[in-house]
Amino acid sequence: MPRVVRRTFVLGTVPVALAALLGAAAPPSAGTAGVGDPYFPLAGNGGYHVHHYDLTLRYDPSSKHLAGKAVLTARATQSLNRFNLDLNGLKITGLKVGRDTADFSRRGQELTVTPRKALHRGQWFRVTVTYQGTPAPVTDPDGSLDGWIPTDDGAFVAGEPQGAMTWFPANNHPKDKASYDFTITVPDGRTAVANGVLLGQRSEHGRTTFRWRQSEPMAAYLATATIGKFKVTQSTTRDGIRIYNAVDPREAAKADPVVKQLPSVLAWESKLFGPYPFKAAGSIVDRAPNVGYALETQTRPVYDRAPDLSTLVHESAHQWFGDSVSLTSWKDIWLNEGFATYAEWLYGEQHGGDSAQKTFDALYARPATDDLWEFPPGDPGSGANIFGTPVYARGAMALHKLRTAVGDRTFFRILRAWTAEHRDGHGTTAQFVALAERESGKDLDGLFRTWVYGQGKPSTP
Ligand code: ARG
Ligand code: ZN
Repeated sequence: MPRVVRRTFVLGTVPVALAALLGAAAPPSAGTAGVGDPYFPLAGNGGYHVHHYDLTLRYDPSSKHLAGKAVLTARATQSLNRFNLDLNGLKITGLKVGRDTADFSRRGQELTVTPRKALHRGQWFRVTVTYQGTPAPVTDPDGSLDGWIPTDDGAFVAGEPQGAMTWFPANNHPKDKASYDFTITVPDGRTAVANGVLLGQRSEHGRTTFRWRQSEPMAAYLATATIGKFKVTQSTTRDGIRIYNAVDPREAAKADPVVKQLPSVLAWESKLFGPYPFKAAGSIVDRAPNVGYALETQTRPVYDRAPDLSTLVHESAHQWFGDSVSLTSWKDIWLNEGFATYAEWLYGEQHGGDSAQKTFDALYARPATDDLWEFPPGDPGSGANIFGTPVYARGAMALHKLRTAVGDRTFFRILRAWTAEHRDGHGTTAQFVALAERESGKDLDGLFRTWVYGQGKPSTP
C-alpha cells in the first residue's frame, strides 16, 4: 500500500495520493464522452444518470425555427468536475447547473459542461439548457435520416439510433432511461404529438400548447415531438390503455382501417408477451417522403406513411421488445428487431397467413450468397449494419429455432419471463440465453451460437 502511494506521488498526482492517505473519496474527474458503445462511441455519456427530462419546445413550421428549454434532473455516479451531454447543432443561449450559470464548450455532438462547484458522487443536480435554431437531422451510418426531419407541415421526429441529440441535449444512449415531460407550442391548426399521456392542450394568441407526460422510463431515441396537420382520435381500451392516434389526412383513407386495429393487436400481443407495459398507446401517421422507415417511439409509433397491418404489429411488438426491455449496446439490436419481426410471423400464423415454419423455410431456401447470411444477427459488425436483413429476418429465424427446440409452451413462457423480469429496464443477449436455458432446462448454447452468432448460412435448417 505505501508503495502504491509513493508511485502515485512520483506520477505527480499529489491530490490522489493525499486523498488515499486520508481515506477520502477520489477527487472529482471528468465524465466520459460516451457510454462505451463500440458502434457509437460518442453516444451517451458516463458519470451520471438522467432521471427526468422536462422539455419545453416552440416550433414554427414555416421558418423551421425551434426554441427549446431542457431541464434535466440527474444524479452523479462519480464525483465530477465536468460532464458531457450530446447535442448536435443548435445554439445554446443559456446553461445552468442548479442555480448557477455553468461554463460549457462544444465539439461535434459533445457538449462539455463545467459546473461552478464540482458534483460529488451520488449528488442530485439539475441542468437547464436553453437553445434555439433550425434543427437538422443527422445521417446515420446506413445513410438514413435520423432526428428532427422537417416536413411540409411540421416535422417527423424519430431518433434511432442517434437523432435525439438533434432536438434536445441528452444522455443519448438506451443505457440511460428517464421519464419525460413535454410542453410543445405550435401554430393553431397544427398538432404536436409526443410520448405517453396527453395532459392538456390550450390555445392562446394563435398558438396551441400540448403537454405530454411519459412516466415510464424511456430511452432518448424513442422520444418524439412530431408536428403536423393531423386528424386526431382518442379512446380507451378495455384494459384501460389510453389511445391517441394522429393521422395525416392525406394518408387517412389507407391508414384508418389499419390504425383502428391497434387495440386488438395490443390485446393479442399482451396474451403472448405479457401485459402491455405502458399506460398510453397510439399511432402517428405523418407523410414524410424522405424518411423510409417507421419507428417504435414509446407508446406511440411514428409511421412515415400509412402502415400495413404487419408493420403495425411490428412496431407494437417493440413496445415490449426494445422499449420496455431496452438494449445496453447497439450490437444486441436483434433483441429488438428479431423479436418484432417474429411477432409479425406469429401474427400471420394465427390470422390465416403462412405458418412461422413456412416463413422460416422460405428464408432458409435463399442461397448462401444472399444478403440474409451476410453477417450474424448477434454481431452485425458496425453501426451501418444494425438495420440490415440478418438482424430482422435471421434474428426471427433464431427465435423460431428456439421455439421448435423448446416447444410452444416453454417458448411463450420464456418471452413472458423476459418481458416481466426486464420490464422498464434492460436486457442483453447473454441474459436472454441464460433465461431461455433456465426456463427450458436445456443447453441452448449450440443453437444460439449457430443462429445468433455463426458466420454464413447455417449448414442445417
Ligand atoms: N426500429 C425501426 C423498425 O421498427 C427501424 C428504424 C430505422 N432507423 C434508421 N435510422 N435506419 O424497424
Ligand atoms: Zn423494428
